[in-house]
Amino acid sequence: MTNKLRVGVIGCGTIASNHIRGYLDSGRYEIVGLADLEAAAMAEKDAAFSIAPRHYTDAREMLAREQPDVVSVCTWHLGHATWTIAAAAHRPKAILCEKPMADSIGRAEQMMLACKRNGVKLGIAHQRRFLPAYTLARDLIAQGAIGKVQTIQSFGGDGLPNYSSHQTDMYRYLLSDDECDWVMGNIERKTDRYERSTRIEDCAVGVFHFACGAVALLLSDVTPTVYQGALIYGSDGMINMTTNDLQLLNHETGGRWQTHTPDGQFYKVAELGDRFEWQEGGAAQAAELADWIEGRTEHFRGAAINGLKALQMVHAVYESARVHEKVSLPMETRYNPLDLMVDSGHLAPQRPGPYDIRAFLLRGERMASDMEETG
Ligand SMILES: NC(=O)c1ccc[n+]([C@@H]2O[C@H](COP(=O)([O-])OP(=O)(O)OC[C@H]3O[C@@H](n4cnc5c(N)ncnc54)[C@H](O)[C@@H]3O)[C@@H](O)[C@H]2O)c1
Repeated sequence: MTNKLRVGVIGCGTIASNHIRGYLDSGRYEIVGLADLEAAAMAEKDAAFSIAPRHYTDAREMLAREQPDVVSVCTWHLGHATWTIAAAAHRPKAILCEKPMADSIGRAEQMMLACKRNGVKLGIAHQRRFLPAYTLARDLIAQGAIGKVQTIQSFGGDGLPNYSSHQTDMYRYLLSDDECDWVMGNIERKTDRYERSTRIEDCAVGVFHFACGAVALLLSDVTPTVYQGALIYGSDGMINMTTNDLQLLNHETGGRWQTHTPDGQFYKVAELGDRFEWQEGGAAQAAELADWIEGRTEHFRGAAINGLKALQMVHAVYESARVHEKVSLPMETRYNPLDLMVDSGHLAPQRPGPYDIRAFLLRGERMASDMEETG
């Protein structure tokens, strides 16, 4: 008899490895079921992690037979709401769903509702909240180390929903979950561009204003620069943060950059290099999720409300482009504003012909139909 939390995973591709590794590293979980349309994807997980969960090509069968305590939803974005709502009906203790939370605010709200009605804790996997450099930056800002935050500058790519939902979540995390009160932005979409079957723009610019007065600036697919992290300017100093470290400049550092490379709860930066953010983020996220499930903490940093707010900030850029004004949050438009613009003919692609920048992830027969909804 084990008192570990029993996990079922839906969608066994790239990011599922991060969930599985995180669960195993934390020592608090066992993987009991895997579900994927492709048998090979599940077999790869068994081999990579020396595990022997039962395999299901039908995720609903996995949910019904295994009755997992925790369900990881790791399909493409369009499947997040479908599978979270399906899993919630089986009343697991928690669901950890990948980001972006959903393809529309309306669907994300349905996920929250389904989980609330079934007494299920819902988390969205913005795992960079669990990186020590991010947390140190948040704490330094809260302590006033750079004075009042004025601007946060960041660069994204591959469409706003995928890459930049991490960044909109990061802004709030850096500001101790301050509220974003308005967003203004614009997009260009001349080609019929998709990312994991989700319609995206060719490039975008966003401005995000927070209750504390700070402003975050996002350039996405506009310049060759793309990275997770930020340059944060305050009234009395600056922080230059990446996923692995941060540099602080203020009066106390003598006006010179001072580097901090904090290690994680599970891993050391120097030992893992580029893999640190994935392995530490996954393990620390899993550990705090277990604490939340077991009542050791009331506060899970990845709670769905934060995922919803990160998604709202992304969709508010689209909404601002659609209605040509500053968009106040929370957003009232529940449909995806980019879909509204394109489907209405307002933003018809000038170079027709859909293509998906992540089509290379598809396996088997689905390779022949890269625009098929995955989920
Ligand atoms: N948190 C992060 O930093 C991060 C990083 C990468 C990906 N992601 C997110 O994870 C999600 C998955 O991305 P990925 O790169 O792992 O994709 P992937 O293509 O590698 O994996 C998706 C898997 O889902 C399976 N699948 C599709 N439909 C299914 C269904 N109906 N039932 C069961 N399985 C099904 C596919 O066969 C595939 O194996 C995306 O939403 C992406 O945004 C998050």
